Parts: sequence; structure tokens; C-alpha cells
Amino acid sequence: MSINRRKVRFSALVIGFLALAISGPWGGGAPAPRPGPRAGVSGDPRRGARLFAALDCARCHSEPRRDRRVQVPPALDIEGNRANLDWLAEYLLAPHSIRYAAEGIRGDLRMPALVASKSDARDLVALMATWTDTARVPHVAVAATDSAAHEGEVLFAQYQCRGCHELGGEGRKIGPALDDVGARRPPDYLRALLLDPQRVVPGTSMKNFDLWDEEAVALTAYLGSLRSPAASEAYSIPTGVVADGPALGDSLPASPTTLPIAR
Ligand code: HEC
Ligand code: HEC
Repeated sequence: MSINRRKVRFSALVIGFLALAISGPWGGGAPAPRPGPRAGVSGDPRRGARLFAALDCARCHSEPRRDRRVQVPPALDIEGNRANLDWLAEYLLAPHSIRYAAEGIRGDLRMPALVASKSDARDLVALMATWTDTARVPHVAVAATDSAAHEGEVLFAQYQCRGCHELGGEGRKIGPALDDVGARRPPDYLRALLLDPQRVVPGTSMKNFDLWDEEAVALTAYLGSLRSPAASEAYSIPTGVVADGPALGDSLPASPTTLPIAR
């Protein structure tokens, strides 16, 4: 596949027109339905909200860093779009490094292991699964064929993504290492991020390559195939060591009437 750099507000126009044609600005006017929690979420979002408050997750996450050099702690406002939910539950039980806080430098701030029970993790995941924004990350099925993945691998080299990302031990440490990115991130998130990084992660230094949608889909197919949990560096407790500890969810005070929304 050749890289076409003439790009093209034209394709954006076409997409915009199609979106308009499909959604129809004429009449109706009903807001797009909020996507329900994805399949696989078995937790209770209201208990998750109580846990989020009781464990004071907001003390770090309510003021995410959005300047170019420091993106840690991250905003959780579209965590329901960003994370594969099975991965997210594992992550809460055994957090590990993902981002570099500044170019090549890990911040001192770490995601603490605050959750010890699988049921609490599931409740928090059920809560975060509701934090989505389909304008920033549209739900689109991405056809991840083998040939698309192969094209994506070629594009990954051509665009020199290793200029910022480590993969297989090679590359710079500016963005996250991508060895396990297919386990972490769903395809629609990857596609949206590749097409417009600053829209999906405001303030990020991830480069906007002005990709064609076909290129983003090919890269998504490739990245989605990358799974290597061993590459993630655990902070203190290695993944899997946390047994199913006592659940906090039951001992918490009555549920708040509204769910907190992380910013
Ligand atoms: C002491 C500060 C602190 C507290 C408290 C904290 N976090 Fe975090 N959290 C972080 C940092 C820092 C990261 C970024 C880790 C990285 O990218 O390397 C993070 C990352 C995350 C992520 C990963 C986002 C992603 O998809 O990349 C989630 C989800 C998350 N935190 C949820 C929570 C929840 C739920 C709680 C409460 C149980 C919580 N955090 C409490 C600092 C904190
Ligand atoms: C100038 C540096 C830079 C370049 C070049 C770059 N990225 Fe990134 N990338 C980043 C940063 C920084 C982030 C972290 C965004 C965040 O905080 O969520 C990121 C995030 C990502 C993520 C999400 C990782 C995760 O777990 O959330 C993927 C996937 C990704 N980049 C793929 C690519 C691909 C593919 C290319 C080449 C086409 C590329 N990047 C080029 C800096 C870069």
C-alpha cells in the first residue's frame, strides 16, 4: 500500500456528508442513543460509583494532566471507549505502567493497587463502561483481516511509529509500549485515536499522520493483533498475585443518587 500524503479534507468531507445523510439533520432530532455497557460487564455500576467515591479515585483522576509533556494521571472520561473491559478488571487488580509522563521519563505518580476483590473490580468496570463519548470514538466495526494486519505492519514501519513507541524492545519511550496494546484497547478506539489523536486524547503529543481511513483500519488490525502481557511492567505486585480479596462493595454506605462522571 502506498502512502498518499495529498490527504484530503476531501475524505473528511465525504465522511461528514455520509454521516449527515445517515443521521439526517431533517427532523427527528432525537439524541443518539447512549450505548449500553458492552457484553461481558457483569458488575453493578451503582456499587462501582460508591467504590469510586470510597476509594477516592478522584483524588488523582479528577484533575488529569492534559499538557503535552505530562499526560499522567490520564482522564477517565472515555474509559468505556478506551479499555477492553476484561483487561480493565485485570488492570485494577494489578496496575502496571502504561504511559510515560514526559519524553522517556516515567512520572513518580503510579496507579495504586486499591482494589483487592474481583467483584469490586467488576463493579468499577461496570461504572467506567458507562463513560463513553461516541462523538470522539464512534462505534464502528473494524474488519481485522490478516491481509489488513499485514498492511498495517508495513505502514507501522513506513510511518516510523517506533520514533515514539517501543515494540519488541525497539523504539523510543515517548508514547506507551505497544506490545500488549491489542489486549488493552478495542479496535474502534485504536481507529479513532489514529485518525485524530488530539480529539481522542486532548493535549497528547501523539502525532496526527493525516491517515486515510483505510490506513487507520490496517494499522488497527495490526495493533489489535499485538498481545504480550509479559511486556507490561508491574509496579509492585506482579499480575495474577492478587487473590480474590475481601469485597468492599457490601460495607459501603448507601448509594449516591447520581453516578460520578470522571473528567
Ligand atoms: C495516586 C493517584 C491515583 C489514584 C488514587 C488512582 N489512580 Fe488510576 N491512575 C493513576 C495513574 C498515574 C495512572 C496512569 C498509569 C500509566 O499510564 O502508566 C492511572 C491509570 C488508571 C487507569 C488506566 C487508564 C487507561 O486505560 O490507560 C484507570 C482505569 C484508572 N487509573 C482507574 C482508577 C480507579 C478506578 C481508581 C480508584 C480505585 C484510581 N484509578 C485511583 C493514578 C491514580
Ligand atoms: C510524536 C510521538 C508519537 C508518534 C510519532 C506516534 N505516537 Fe502513538 N502515542 C504517542 C503518545 C504520547 C501516546 C499516549 C496517548 C495517551 O496518553 O493515551 C500515544 C498513544 C498511542 C496508542 C494508544 C496506546 C494505549 O495503550 O493507549 C497507539 C495504539 C498508538 N499511539 C499508535 C501509534 C502508531 C501506529 C503510530 C505511527 C503511525 C504512532 N502511534 C506514532 C506518541 C506518538
